[in-house]
Amino acid sequence: MKQVILKRRSIRSFKKKELTLEDQASIKKLLKQFEQLKGPFGNTVRLYLLNLNEEKGPESKLVGLYGYIKNAPAFIAGSTKNTFEGLVDYGYVFQAVLLELTKRGFGTVWLGGDFTRSDLKSFARKGDVVPSVSPVGYPAKLSWREKFLRSRQEAHTREPFSSKFFNGNFDTPIRDDQAQKHPFYDYLELVRLAPSALNKQPWRVIVDGQKLHLYLRRTPDFKHKDLDVEMLNMGVAMQHLEVGLNEDKRRFKVSRFDDAPKNKAYDYIATYELDA
Ligand SMILES: Cc1cc2nc3c(=O)[nH]c(=O)nc-3n(C[C@H](O)[C@H](O)[C@H](O)COP(=O)(O)O)c2cc1C
Repeated sequence: MKQVILKRRSIRSFKKKELTLEDQASIKKLLKQFEQLKGPFGNTVRLYLLNLNEEKGPESKLVGLYGYIKNAPAFIAGSTKNTFEGLVDYGYVFQAVLLELTKRGFGTVWLGGDFTRSDLKSFARKGDVVPSVSPVGYPAKLSWREKFLRSRQEAHTREPFSSKFFNGNFDTPIRDDQAQKHPFYDYLELVRLAPSALNKQPWRVIVDGQKLHLYLRRTPDFKHKDLDVEMLNMGVAMQHLEVGLNEDKRRFKVSRFDDAPKNKAYDYIATYELDA
């Protein structure tokens, strides 16, 4: 999965092609499997494949909403509790699904805004919200124009290591010229490559011995409406971090520490404690 993370990009243009019945079946099976996956705070997520051919279903409301999503044959969506823990766990599980779909050659992109959540509530678990959807289909080859726009927007570029990751406290960034020598470089790099809403890259990590304290740097004026979209980013980052830890067979536990460093500018999320 590390390799999948290194190569993944948001895909917004698809081939004009329906999902084959075989692919629909394999995606449905995959979603069933990922409904068993628990996030770091112990919640599961309900997952759905939305078939855009069903004109009167809730999914028909998605059609046309995203003008910049081209030819998506289907969408996936999920539902969770609208709580801090529910949203972090949602980010974690939904990203696990998107990585697996990417590995199998499908294109996906997180869509956390621009749709009316209540339109999709009918199929969600009672009391749950639908924090995001993603198209799923066969990626189109980028036209030269899209390539040009993409390079201008630099949609997938990432800010330097030193602006995200720290040793001991927020006053001691891990210097970019030292980053690769850091014992946790590989894991932090996977966090840095995580997708995030508006590409704000709001995750911060303080490394303290074998502990990694995770924080959210909120973006002023981020438009939330009825749900804390920024919190989803933290679950996404935790999914990426755990891909690295699991591939290296590192044992760890996740908890919230009362004595984790505090800072007004950052919301404390959780701590990963690694076995030495
Ligand atoms: C929680 C979340 C919400 C997002 N919402 C949208 C969205 O509404 N529309 C969109 O085009 N991209 C959305 N994205 C995708 C990001 O814009 C994208 O991941 C980021 O620009 C980095 O590019 P990359 O995924 O190609 O690395 C979202 C990503 C996340 C994690």
